Amino acid sequence: MTETLQQDSSYAARLENLKVDFSGTTVVDVPELNMEQGLIHVVSGPSGSGKTSLLRSFNRLNECFPHCRTSGRIHLTLGNQRIDIQSLPDTRLAALRQKVAMVFQSPNVLPGSIAHNLKLPLKVTRNLKGAEAESTIRKSLQQAKLWDDVRERINHPASSLSGGQQQRLCLARALALDPEILLLDEPTASLDPDVTGQIENLLLELRGRYTMILVSHSRRQTARLADTHYRCENAKIVEIQRLRS
Ligand SMILES: Nc1ncnc2c1ncn2[C@@H]1O[C@H](COP(=O)(O)OP(=O)(O)OP(=O)(O)O)[C@@H](O)[C@H]1O
Ligand SMILES: [Mg+2]
Repeated sequence: MTETLQQDSSYAARLENLKVDFSGTTVVDVPELNMEQGLIHVVSGPSGSGKTSLLRSFNRLNECFPHCRTSGRIHLTLGNQRIDIQSLPDTRLAALRQKVAMVFQSPNVLPGSIAHNLKLPLKVTRNLKGAEAESTIRKSLQQAKLWDDVRERINHPASSLSGGQQQRLCLARALALDPEILLLDEPTASLDPDVTGQIENLLLELRGRYTMILVSHSRRQTARLADTHYRCENAKIVEIQRLRS
């Protein structure tokens, strides 16, 4: 199931014959794909072409839907190990989802305060509490360009934040997990141009440290961020462009 790497550790993800079906309809069909470590991989394509389902494959989130079936192989390089994630027992899924964190298309804040949204996952996944948790929370909120908006109301309900602020809270939460792969599903869709620019700057700063797989409908954003661009159509990746070397 896991292998310690001797060489060829340069890929973050390798897909082989990946198929995702919902109720018998194939929504992702990728015969072979390698995604290099530390780069920004941008996925675009029409609505319904399978982008979100592809993203959810990387941390086995599709299996939260009972009528979903996944076949094929996804190998990820995490730490110094190459892991065949389809073979992981359910007991290791929480750890997988910490290492492969996702920011969803619609913000999914937890009930409770802004602080609780960050404290709870830090406690559960990284066993961080007290001062260490506080400083990680502050840093991730600063990275997500949310700190100035929430520093005076960190104990207010997360649901009192605007849609764009909730999106940034979800990004802060993903960053606080200290992942190796970040799955970002249209992370700036509900943000204004200024904040979008700031988040793009952050993602460029994080380039190299994390592998990012990002869904975007924006050509401008793709041109700015993508090392590699994948165009999806009808469940397939129909074009791959290397934009930066
Ligand atoms: N939980 C689900 N249950 C049933 N069908 C689903 C589910 N999630 C996705 N699908 C179906 O899979 C196909 C691909 O959906 P997906 O959400 O991956 O597309 P997308 O490219 O992300 O679209 P968009 O740009 O609108 O977000 C669609 O036909 C969709 O109806
Ligand atoms: Mg989607």
